[in-house]
Amino acid sequence: MRHVICKVDALQPGEIKEAMLGRISIVICRTPDGEYYALSNRCVHQGAPMAKGKLCGATAPTDTPGEYRYVREGEILRCPWHGREYDVLRGGRMLADDTRCLPSFNVVVEGEEVVVHR
Ligand code: FES
Repeated sequence: MRHVICKVDALQPGEIKEAMLGRISIVICRTPDGEYYALSNRCVHQGAPMAKGKLCGATAPTDTPGEYRYVREGEILRCPWHGREYDVLRGGRMLADDTRCLPSFNVVVEGEEVVVHR
């Protein structure tokens, strides 16, 4: 089934937006490269609304023990309640445990519309 979520310019790179797929609540993420992604709006931990979270980056280790660098700005969705982080580009996999993920949905841009097919 085809669900029109919004117009392409309703969401700028780095922004997220809650939407409904029938009765399913989802969060649409627009990453800095302009691509759109759709994930479940319920954190797998305790059900927080992910659309109240933040698109951010993650820390990665460096060659120096104890030092980290900030990477992947705008590609990680952080839960607003306890901070679990999900990889938007990898199907919503949780960074700390990649056996867990937010369910993801197929998003396409059709003309001026952002559309999710389910
Ligand atoms: S509800 Fe998302 S981390 Fe706890």
